[in-house]
Amino acid sequence: MNPQVSGQNLLARIHEFLGGSLEEADRIFRDELRSRRTCVRDIFGHALQFQGKRLRPILLLLSAAASGGIRKDHHVLAAVVEMIHTATLVHDDILDEADTRRHVATVNARWNNETSVLFGDYLFTHAFHLAASLDSTTACRLIGRATNVVCEGELTQISERGNIDLTEERYFEIIDGKTAELCALCGQLGAMYAGAGDEIIEALSDYGRSLGLAFQIADDLLDLTGDEDRTGKTLGSDLLKQKLTLPVIRLLATAPPDDATTIRELIATPDENTGEKLLPYLEASDALSYTSQRAEELILAANSRLSILPDSPARRILESLTDFVLHRSF
Ligand code: IPE
Ligand code: IPE
Ligand code: MG
Ligand code: MG
Repeated sequence: MNPQVSGQNLLARIHEFLGGSLEEADRIFRDELRSRRTCVRDIFGHALQFQGKRLRPILLLLSAAASGGIRKDHHVLAAVVEMIHTATLVHDDILDEADTRRHVATVNARWNNETSVLFGDYLFTHAFHLAASLDSTTACRLIGRATNVVCEGELTQISERGNIDLTEERYFEIIDGKTAELCALCGQLGAMYAGAGDEIIEALSDYGRSLGLAFQIADDLLDLTGDEDRTGKTLGSDLLKQKLTLPVIRLLATAPPDDATTIRELIATPDENTGEKLLPYLEASDALSYTSQRAEELILAANSRLSILPDSPARRILESLTDFVLHRSF
């Protein structure tokens, strides 16, 4: 089956399974961000014309369902993690000078960078304001810690910009912080607030982390080879901003000496067409298949951590989510 179609089908199945819970999380999300100021309402209305895939709330709610059941607090937590994620995207689009996100103009393109900085802050502060409404402060602490790690990941990435000798190890450190940490948190909070024991909490946190790593690797492949109409966001910015990702790191490590100088030069002096110019070299090497293989290994590692859970519809959906992450085109 066309992976795009099966991906959409899986998301539809997940929505059907989670039904009211995802909608309740959306309602809390919107209520929390409602502002008395028209200028804020305008930005919020614009940014949320199209929803994202809501992978993080889905991960949190499915983890809860698979480890004891979804409770009221989970709806709040699901709204919080989506808010943190959205805040990082609003800021990320400034860093990447991206003009399209979720099929509409980014806040920085529609307004300006100053507005994006402040709107991202507005999302972050609301996330913590909302998390603090829970009876226990545990989640708030964990969310704070994970968000700090996400920021550290983004800062590490910025500090490595233009480093043509970036190692795979450093790349994994970056994506572990900027992307996998929040996914791990979703598994952890889902299980913890469902009353699961430590072993299950840890297993779902590990599942989220490996899934998150694979998700970012797939995203980095899409940035090179994806279709902007499908993803609904500006692509090609990793090369343009000289952020080296796994396929490029692999290409640099394995290119024959004759090509290596040209490839390094292309990467060191990027323009809008760098991706196109690199494509023949990528295709002639094992860089793309190697990258997919690394993502596949992570997906296997993620699924292996689910074996501790009793069989349930939620567990089975978590198992198929890994496939979606690997083959997604949006
Ligand atoms: C994009 O995340 C940023 C990454 C971590 C790769 P998503 O692809 O989950 O974005 P939305 O929420 O669906 O728009
Ligand atoms: C950003 O990574 C991930 C964050 C945690 C913000 P990307 O820059 O690859 O995300 P996209 O491709 O713009 O969505
Ligand atoms: Mg980006
Ligand atoms: Mg990307």
